[in-house]
Amino acid sequence: MVQQSRKTQYDQSLFEARQRLIQSGFYRQLIVQIESLLQSRDTEFLLDAGCGEGSHLAQILDKIDHQFGVGVDIAKEGIQTAAKAYENSQWIVGDLANTPFTDKAFDIILNILSPSNYQEFTRLMKDDGIVMKVVPGPNYLKELREQIFAGTDQEDYSNEDTVTRFKQFFDITHREKVFHQVTLTEDQFQDLIQMTPLTQDVDLSQLKFVDSITLDLEILVGEKQGLS
Ligand SMILES: C[S@@+](CC[C@H](N)C(=O)[O-])C[C@H]1O[C@@H](n2cnc3c(N)ncnc32)[C@H](O)[C@@H]1O
Repeated sequence: MVQQSRKTQYDQSLFEARQRLIQSGFYRQLIVQIESLLQSRDTEFLLDAGCGEGSHLAQILDKIDHQFGVGVDIAKEGIQTAAKAYENSQWIVGDLANTPFTDKAFDIILNILSPSNYQEFTRLMKDDGIVMKVVPGPNYLKELREQIFAGTDQEDYSNEDTVTRFKQFFDITHREKVFHQVTLTEDQFQDLIQMTPLTQDVDLSQLKFVDSITLDLEILVGEKQGLS
């Protein structure tokens, strides 16, 4: 199903690089932690909002029984890449501000390293549903940020504003860090610099190979306000 698509900074080659990197296990620890948070829940409808090329959702659905998944993204290239690679979910082009789903359709809304629309998430969540948002921590990809943003105000990153905004819409029931070093091959490094929005205005040939990079993420789990 094709709703509205918008030309974005994310193109086909970015999504292919992202898919290779994720399939090679770059975010495996994140997915293991998400799976373990979802294990205790029963049959559920799961939406990945801003799913990109779909690997996170596809990996989660492979591990968790009784889940029905839908991935939505505004970039048609991402949805096409997802649909080619994964049959275990529905893939839909759509804007998070105005998705084509009915009210209270989902038990779980995943939102991984993507923009959000909390009014729309609230409309889409069942009353006992949850939003699971993954945000970068201050040291996320720090070895790359140091090369790209040295001496600028973007060298340091804080997710405080993002967390504050999340709290304006949801009661946080759980927060969990994902923090470790990932060893990179040269091929993985090339995919990493192609797939991250951090490098969008950067001459990639100027970036020096690093064989280990920091993954610093935080999983925020929220429910509708005033339930507990
Ligand atoms: C950094 S990527 C993350 C993709 C995926 N969650 C992942 O972790 O691989 C951000 C994604 O958000 C999507 N996006 C940005 N604005 C959007 C919007 N208004 N509606 C739907 N998707 C959007 C982009 O197209 C892109 O795929």
